[in-house]
Amino acid sequence: RRVLVLNGPNLGRLGTRQPEIYGATTHAQLADHLVETGARLGLDVEVRQSDHEGEFIGWLHEAADAGADAVLNAGAWTHYSYAVADAAALVGRYVEVHISNVHAREEFRSHSVLSAKACGVIIGCGIGGYDLALAHLASLDG
Ligand code: DQA
Repeated sequence: RRVLVLNGPNLGRLGTRQPEIYGATTHAQLADHLVETGARLGLDVEVRQSDHEGEFIGWLHEAADAGADAVLNAGAWTHYSYAVADAAALVGRYVEVHISNVHAREEFRSHSVLSAKACGVIIGCGIGGYDLALAHLASLDG
């Protein structure tokens, strides 16, 4: 089964961006790790990151057309982008991931426009949350 792991704005800066919040692992290291995790779970994982909302929406359309599952960390778009939410709703199944505990931070981070249609939401588990999301998708039928 194919899974697209899609990371939104500023997540390409993992490793140097507020490491006390997001950790020291770079996006490239995370991507390699998740491909390995996927292989162990029998999932064909591809990891992408974009700072451009239109590109991100295009990838959601691609996942929808391919019948792929998705793991989404939409970064700050999570909190306000109805366009990303509408595109995510086209994807068969997606797990929403946040590296940090968004509920322990600024008020605006507490609301997500993506959660209602997610088949799971993983918050505050660090980058290990992506592995949990893949394990969850692998556990589902079909
Ligand atoms: C984030 C939390 C968001 O509020 C923030 O804008 C991010 C990352 C997280 O993974 O904790 O870019 O989604």
